[in-house]
Amino acid sequence: MSRLVVISNRVDVPKARGVAGAQGGLSGALNSALKQNRGIWFGWSGEDVEEFTGHLHFQRHDGVTTATVDLATQDVEEYYNGYANSTLWPLFHYRIDLTEYEREFGVGYERVNENFASSVLPLIDQDDMVWVHDYHLIPLGERLRSKGLKNRMGFFLHTPWPPTRLLVSLPFHERLVDAMLHYDLIGFQCDEWLESFLHYCRKELGADVNEQTGEVTLNGHTSIARAYPIGIDYDHFMSKGETGEAKQAQQRLLSSTRHRLAMIGVDRLDYSKGLPERIDGIGRFFDTYPDRVRELIYIQIAPPSREGIGSYQDIRSLLEQKTGQINGARSEVDIVPIRYVNKGQSQEELFGFYRASKIGLVTPLRDGMNLVAKEYVAAQDPEDPGVLILSRFAGAAQQLQDALLVNPHSPDDVAHNIRIALDMPLAERKERWERMHQSVKEENVQRWTQNFTNDLAAVAPSVQ
Ligand code: F6P
Repeated sequence: MSRLVVISNRVDVPKARGVAGAQGGLSGALNSALKQNRGIWFGWSGEDVEEFTGHLHFQRHDGVTTATVDLATQDVEEYYNGYANSTLWPLFHYRIDLTEYEREFGVGYERVNENFASSVLPLIDQDDMVWVHDYHLIPLGERLRSKGLKNRMGFFLHTPWPPTRLLVSLPFHERLVDAMLHYDLIGFQCDEWLESFLHYCRKELGADVNEQTGEVTLNGHTSIARAYPIGIDYDHFMSKGETGEAKQAQQRLLSSTRHRLAMIGVDRLDYSKGLPERIDGIGRFFDTYPDRVRELIYIQIAPPSREGIGSYQDIRSLLEQKTGQINGARSEVDIVPIRYVNKGQSQEELFGFYRASKIGLVTPLRDGMNLVAKEYVAAQDPEDPGVLILSRFAGAAQQLQDALLVNPHSPDDVAHNIRIALDMPLAERKERWERMHQSVKEENVQRWTQNFTNDLAAVAPSVQ
């Protein structure tokens, strides 16, 4: 079996060096794939130093070796805060209004990808399979090839891929996608992002595209592009539900809502998650059904994210302002309709909170997949499951068709569906939940990892 080398911006390193490890199902799944394949995980340490040295920090934890490098402060500014999160992230989430096109961001992005390639190259053996993750590292494959690497290389994009008409607003867009076509296998979260990618390759690069097989041929090299919907680490997450911490969290929420129904949202504080729009929808529900205000309490868990970027500071103030307005207008001495928690929670606590909440509100304006939707489904009581309200613009909507699918831009649609969820009879809740649960359980992250790595192992080596 080939060894796997995973490369991503964030690496799940133990917290010993003061670095917060990547959280959630993805890191767990990659860990188990790496363990199976005796692999290495390479990326940024999360630390910044004055100058990039390429010095590798190795750690071995639970059978997995991680190798990380520190970035220069300028790299963090231009590559992470800059090109990755102020240019590509907003553009890939259809937010051309927030996209910044600074020349030095592009230069920093190229520099870090080049430095990553030089640092990881000596760690890759002849028969290893290389699997690169996400928008931070699109040109990395091309950089590795230019240094003579001949191994099979796969790339997975965790975000959406934008429509061609938006992508062409990016200076040097052809260069970016041309570089991406140096990977042998390219994975997307759902068919919509895959179709946009194939359309771009045909229309803008003049590549030879086979829509049926996903083969894209340009300059004599063929890449295969496919959809691989990511799932949660189902068994691991369910085991969290068995813990005392989960049960306590469930009880804490239930007793504090005092027989009112809890509705929950859990999101990184990011403008793509549609948080102010969601609060508008809840406000519209209260305005439209004033006699039902006392039935419901909304809990929003929103840990801050990417705080060095202005648009993230803006979204935080806007959310605080909107929450404050509704609570000001709708609170009674004994009831505050929206609880806003600005910090992350453990997986055990989240399990308990999901279980205690009869409505899960997941309404991103655009999302590659959204695993909160899947975790919410997994955590429900089979005898009395809650209702998932899900944005039709999340990748997860392709699999979770039994959720109440909404347009997150429409406060009326969100309000209307909260009303439907509140009144949904048990039989219908069960029917919808059972179908969603089956998909969440079966199409889990282990299957995702296996599907991708099996396909990567099967591609003909592109470079002899
Ligand atoms: O899913 C997109 C993503 O950028 C992941 O790559 C990352 O782990 C997560 O969001 C959190 O973002 P960040 O690494 O910028 O904190």
